[in-house]
Amino acid sequence: MSDPLSPIETAKFAAAKKAVDYVENGMKLGLGTGSTAAWMVRLLGERVREQGLDIVGVPTSTRTAEQARNEGIKIVSLDEAKWLDLTIDGADEFDPDLNLIKGGGGALLQEKIVATASDQMIVITDVSKQVDTLGHFPLPVEVIPFGWQTTKSLVEETLVSMDVMGRKATLRMSGDAPYVTDQGNYIIDLHLERIGNAPQLALALNQIPGVVENGLFIDICSTVIIGYGDGIVTTKDLLSGDETIDQFAYEEEENIFADLG
Ligand code: 5RP
Repeated sequence: MSDPLSPIETAKFAAAKKAVDYVENGMKLGLGTGSTAAWMVRLLGERVREQGLDIVGVPTSTRTAEQARNEGIKIVSLDEAKWLDLTIDGADEFDPDLNLIKGGGGALLQEKIVATASDQMIVITDVSKQVDTLGHFPLPVEVIPFGWQTTKSLVEETLVSMDVMGRKATLRMSGDAPYVTDQGNYIIDLHLERIGNAPQLALALNQIPGVVENGLFIDICSTVIIGYGDGIVTTKDLLSGDETIDQFAYEEEENIFADLG
């Protein structure tokens, strides 16, 4: 028998459980990356295997692609799918307008392309990611390795005229070497503490040569599903203004690793 879930895992599970209810037969679905999105892929796999749910998924990272294949979810490329009905993904921070910081897991580039190519993006998250103003979580900026130090200097220079509180920029590392994204790029994390004008910053960063994309998701997400440690989830829809509350209990069989412990 496996251990019961911790409150944080319960929150992620519950948000993911609510999100997979949005998935219908025939949908083309963007599959996010991260620990919360991993719950969604797992629960989606259950629906595919047990209910014969007929969907195709476009993964946002090699990690998610591998998990989805193992779950029996049919995977296609974005170019094959062309346009998606729905993307479900996690976030590192979200504000009251559902603007996001993403990329803590290093997959921001594919995540942004996939979410932007979707009719709807739903963010699944635990309540700790909710903020009044974005910026406490370091903002990831994906840069090409060629001349990355020059790009970093240009990013720092750009920050001087932006409405931010901190200006420290650090190269993301993986042990002793730079962290490398699925696209072979580096990530510079910006420790800004507070981002006063996120749309302006997102545009300014993407104008710097060498910057591939930044982790600010502005006006892309319309629905957030917030999980709590007791299995309660709150769903907020920006367009309708609707807010609903549900509760989900984790059951042993939902843990595919339960018998391996
Ligand atoms: C990956 C992401 C993730 O969605 C974000 O980091 C949240 O991850 P988690 O659900 O593990 O907290 O943007 O690039």
